[in-house]
Amino acid sequence: MNVLVTGGAGYIGSVTVERLIEKGYKVFVVDSLENGHIEAVHPEAEFFQCNIGAQNELDRIIKSCQIEAILHFAAYALVGESMENPGKYFQNNVFNAHKLIQAAVENKIKKFILSSTCATYGEPSQVPIPENHPTNPTNPYGESKLMLEKVLKWYHKCHGLEYVALRYFNACGASPNYGEDHEIETHLIPIILEVACGQRELIKIFGDDYPTADGTCIRDYIHIIDLADAHILALDVKGSKTYNLGTGKGYSVKEVIDCVEQVTGRKIKTKLDQRRSGDPAQLVAVSETIKNELGWKPIYNMEKIIQSAWKWKLTNPKGYNKN
Ligand SMILES: NC(=O)c1ccc[n+]([C@@H]2O[C@H](COP(=O)([O-])OP(=O)(O)OC[C@H]3O[C@@H](n4cnc5c(N)ncnc54)[C@H](O)[C@@H]3O)[C@@H](O)[C@H]2O)c1
Repeated sequence: MNVLVTGGAGYIGSVTVERLIEKGYKVFVVDSLENGHIEAVHPEAEFFQCNIGAQNELDRIIKSCQIEAILHFAAYALVGESMENPGKYFQNNVFNAHKLIQAAVENKIKKFILSSTCATYGEPSQVPIPENHPTNPTNPYGESKLMLEKVLKWYHKCHGLEYVALRYFNACGASPNYGEDHEIETHLIPIILEVACGQRELIKIFGDDYPTADGTCIRDYIHIIDLADAHILALDVKGSKTYNLGTGKGYSVKEVIDCVEQVTGRKIKTKLDQRRSGDPAQLVAVSETIKNELGWKPIYNMEKIIQSAWKWKLTNPKGYNKN
C-alpha cells in the first residue's frame, strides 16, 4: 500500500514512517521542514519538501505516487504559543490541513488518519477520559484539532472520506534511530533528560498541591512506537472512528522524575514553582476502545519509555545533526 505521511520529518511522524517501512508499506513523506529534520526522514521513504497548504503540489504528489492513504501529522503543537498567536494555529492546523483533506477527497483517498489530541477535551469532568467525554478545548491548539475532526466528520458524511482521529495523550520515548528534537521543548521527559545530561540546571515542578497522591500533576505517557503501531492498525478500520491513544495508566511528575533517576543513575535537581494556569490535575485516557476494537496493546511502561529516550539522548545529545 502506498501511504503519504505529512510531518514525517517530525518527532512522531519519523518513527511512524520507520514502522510503516518495516511492515512493508511504500512511504512518501511531505514536510516543510519548518520544525522537522531531514535527518529524521527514513532513507527508504521518498521525500518532498512541501507545505500541506500547497494544494496543487499535493495533488501532483498524490497522483504521481498513487497514494492510497494519508497519515496526517503536520501541524503546530505548542499550547502556550497557540494562546499568544492563535491565528498561526488556525491557519496551519485548520486551513492548510483543509487543503490536504480537499486533495484527499479529489483523489479518492481510501483512509485519512489524523493526529488529534487529548487537548480537545479541555478540563475533564471525568478521569479516566472516555472518547464520548464532552469536548471543550481550553486553548487554540486543542480547538484547531477539534475543528479539523469536525471537517473530517462532514467530509465523511458528504464525500464518503473515511478517517480515523487518534487523540494522543503524552507522546514520548524514542526508537533506536529517531527521537525527540524540538527547537522549543515543552515536554517533561526530554526536559528532565537535559537535566540528567547537565544541559539544564534543574526542572521546575509547577505545583505540588494538586489533589493527587504526591500533589503533582498526573499524565498518561505513551511511547511513540506504540503510537505508530496504532496508526498502522487504524489503516484497516472500516468506516470512520475516533480513538483515545493513551495507556490508561497515569504517572505524576514526581514519579517520572524518580524513574529518570533510577534509569540514568543521576540525581535530578528540582525546584518548586507556582501552578500554571489551565493545567488539569489528571489527564488519563480510557484506552479500552482501541484495545477492544483493533487489538492494539501498548508494550512500553514508564521504565522502558525512559530507557529508550535516554539511549537516544546519549547517542544524540544535541539532537539531529548537531553532535
Ligand atoms: N507530541 C505530542 O505529545 C503530541 C500529543 C498530541 C498530538 N500530537 C500531534 O502529533 C503531530 C506530530 O507531533 P510532533 O510532536 O511529532 O510534532 P513535530 O513538530 O515534531 O512534527 C510536526 C512536523 O510537521 C511539519 N509541518 C508543520 N506544518 C507543516 C505544513 N504546513 N506543511 C508541511 N509540514 C509541516 C514540521 O516541519 C514537523 O516536521 C502533531 O499534529 C501534533 O499536534 C502530538
